[in-house]
Amino acid sequence: MAASEAVLQVVCGSSSYDFHNVRSNKSKGFNTRKRSSVHVQAQLSSRPFRASKGKRVFHGTDKLESLVCNCKRVESVNGDTNNNHEGAPSKLDKIQNSGSLDEIVTDSTRHGEAMGLDVAVKHNNGGFTSKDKLHIDGLSRDSLNKVSGNSIEDEAWDLLRSSIVYYCNNPIGTIAANDPSSTVILNYDQVFIRDFVPSGIAFLLKGEYDIVRNFILHTLQLQSWEKTMDCHSPGQGLMPASFKVRTILLDGDDAATEDVLDPDFGEAAIGRVAPVDSGLWWIILLRAYGKCTGDLSVQERVDVQTGIKMILKLCLADGFDMFPTLLVTDGSCMIDRRMGIHGHPLEIQALFYSALLCAREMLTPEDGSADLIRALNNRLVALSFHIREYYWIDMRKVNEIYRYKTEEYSYDAVNKFNIYPEQIPPWLVEFMPSKGGYLIGNLQPAHMDFRFFSLGNLWSIVSSLATAEQSHAILDLIEAKWAELVADMPFKICYPALDGQEWRIITGSDPKNNPWSYHNGGSWPTLLWQLTVACIKMNRADIASKAVQVAERRISKDKWPEYYDTKRARFIGKQARLFQTWSIAGYLVAKQLLANPDAAKFLTNEEDSELINALSCMISANPRRRKRGRKKQSFIV
Ligand code: GLC
Repeated sequence: MAASEAVLQVVCGSSSYDFHNVRSNKSKGFNTRKRSSVHVQAQLSSRPFRASKGKRVFHGTDKLESLVCNCKRVESVNGDTNNNHEGAPSKLDKIQNSGSLDEIVTDSTRHGEAMGLDVAVKHNNGGFTSKDKLHIDGLSRDSLNKVSGNSIEDEAWDLLRSSIVYYCNNPIGTIAANDPSSTVILNYDQVFIRDFVPSGIAFLLKGEYDIVRNFILHTLQLQSWEKTMDCHSPGQGLMPASFKVRTILLDGDDAATEDVLDPDFGEAAIGRVAPVDSGLWWIILLRAYGKCTGDLSVQERVDVQTGIKMILKLCLADGFDMFPTLLVTDGSCMIDRRMGIHGHPLEIQALFYSALLCAREMLTPEDGSADLIRALNNRLVALSFHIREYYWIDMRKVNEIYRYKTEEYSYDAVNKFNIYPEQIPPWLVEFMPSKGGYLIGNLQPAHMDFRFFSLGNLWSIVSSLATAEQSHAILDLIEAKWAELVADMPFKICYPALDGQEWRIITGSDPKNNPWSYHNGGSWPTLLWQLTVACIKMNRADIASKAVQVAERRISKDKWPEYYDTKRARFIGKQARLFQTWSIAGYLVAKQLLANPDAAKFLTNEEDSELINALSCMISANPRRRKRGRKKQSFIV
């Protein structure tokens, strides 16, 4: 090993974890998720707590508070392991500061630098912990040395790689944003589960599997955390919204460090929102990992199987619900602030449906799982019926709602949810094209949220929650409403924005969610990848290509913002982070999939014929429907 590499390398206590040895072991019947068998050693010290950057990290005597990996630094030649890049601006710094790749290529060629290898990955704001050198598993030095052209894609890859976060010297995820100009970091220095999904897919499609495998297995360990919010513990299957890797010096030994994984289940998040989507995305990524790599050993592991079941049990638990849709609080998904999406928001339902299908594919049949699989199948049928039937609107349906009778008390009511036609907003009359339609944002008693939410609609196509006909109609609408949904930057998170009194009441006067900004009608480049998967699935990749071309006009010049503001997405978002990783990864995945459309199959779910059969059996066996056939008089009170 070259001296310079030795200087940089941080050696992890090698016996501290070994994922490869945790195999499916049904015959032994033990569950490797028990804390005692977690391979990353948990620190159970008697230290009371340590304050770190304002956050208390307890190392309680009886509580597992953080995953700890003890690391020992290899002595450096000059004794300095941290700042070896000082004085030599990294390639990332140069991209961030100049925005010009040409200059960097010339510069690094002149100095004979290995492109991409010399990137200092420490956040300029001191935000995230990483090792001092890029060690990208499965990535040959040659591919990194490849001198980049000045393509946006090359720049995106460099930026994506420089966002990698390491845990005990292994890549484990990507930081949410790496914006040197931002003075307020908040939690953008963390690895977000939902944000990592496009990064993970980009790496999978590139043949770099280890980072995804590490991410899946480490987040799995965080799942069984003891999490509390003011003495209340949320369900055990919950996955964190994000986690942070912190490297801390070990007490009394200034040559030794430990890496600590510090998850946030919403206990610290703004508004204390529960990340319902995290576990669903985790299942979707796990299935994509298996499909892309052909390595099913990860999903077959006992601990992974248990993790899948814990998420399912949490989602399938009985409650007071009358609907098969998942009941959640406001801000429980990509829109993680108050935006009036409490109840049964479409995004969660689409991810739920997708995760149920993916889980069904991966669950290994065993004695104890029959009930769970039965519950899962029943839910799939009921959920798809409910969404296809009650969330769908097009011209015909809007007209039907417009003529609804209300106050129907009967089993056979046409207006089941007692929707008052006055709810139809004026904008909808303009927005609804004569050809096309979409799934509404939310449905509750006496309430239809008619807003168009992009991710929910796109993922309903991807997962086949929408019928093929509905899926085409959603894409028809996107084409017809290009100026509203794409305009100068794909893709509007929702349409339209809440304004005036509605904005005041629904967002709680949230200035970050001003009309046509952020979650309230802002435009998010990351949505490009979901758009691309949906378009490829429906054999309409041209729509996605067009959107990518729109993005390419400015996304790199604008430094990869998190979101854009204004009705036509003309301005970089007021509070948008620059160098937002999922904007970068979303673009890359779109490009990769357009170049290799077959790969979209790792992410899509095909319409399930068994499910369709079950659906029609269920409908014909429904006593309410039979009653309707017999034209029995209903009781009106
Ligand atoms: C914002 C987004 C959220 C994302 C996070 C990190 O809060 O709303 O979806 O996960 O930033 O990028």
